Amino acid sequence: MAELSRQHWSAERYAQTAHFVPALGGPVVELLAPQAGERILDLGCGDGVLTEMIAASGAAVVAVDAAPDMVAAACARGLDARIVAGQHLRFDGEFDAVFSNAALHWMRPAEAVLAGVHRALKAGGRFVGEMGGHNNTAAIMVALRAVLARRGLDAQRLSPWWFPSTAAWGARLEAAGFTVDQIAIVPRPTPLPAGLEAWLDTFADDFFGALPQADRRPARAEVVDLLRPILMDERGTWIADYVRLRFRARRAD
Ligand code: BEZ
Repeated sequence: MAELSRQHWSAERYAQTAHFVPALGGPVVELLAPQAGERILDLGCGDGVLTEMIAASGAAVVAVDAAPDMVAAACARGLDARIVAGQHLRFDGEFDAVFSNAALHWMRPAEAVLAGVHRALKAGGRFVGEMGGHNNTAAIMVALRAVLARRGLDAQRLSPWWFPSTAAWGARLEAAGFTVDQIAIVPRPTPLPAGLEAWLDTFADDFFGALPQADRRPARAEVVDLLRPILMDERGTWIADYVRLRFRARRAD
């Protein structure tokens, strides 16, 4: 059964606090190398910034995301965007490529997602993406664990994210019928222009939502206090310890 995050997605808040996510997605689009006339599925399209970039190549792009507000924002760009969770893809042999940026680590179980991607591709079609990789946001995870443990909660159990190693993700891809052409861990320290509090508000509902309403703000402040000496530089800029897993694979059969 799909494990769905309790994250509330607001396209407006995302555009204000997380615009760096698609802005840093250029290298993944380059790895995709979309061609005019191709049919491409953008899996976890968010507000459609990268979908638009792919469509500019002349490819016909279908975009899917589980979050209605994000899909509405993508549709407002004139894109063919649909509300579909990655675990419930029902396309059949119709895409030359499936693309995904900063979304796969939210989608579990991976087997259901990969089966849907495999089915969606034409024979030999490519699957190109980037997601959080092993050790992604490790300092943030440790701080969340510490602050929630003080309250008797297990952050690991509450986490909606999965950040695999290249070995683990490569094995999942192969088990799902893909040939892996390229796979790498890419450390990418990432400035958070709106700061860590805004980042936590945008992405960490699964953790703070488990607390009584009155304790959410104090808990968030504790996380921020713990991380300030680690993730804030001497000029006051928050820099998160992002680690990407970037890959290109092909449907093998
Ligand atoms: C990421 O893209 O790595 C990410 C984004 C939000 C929360 C956790 C990880």
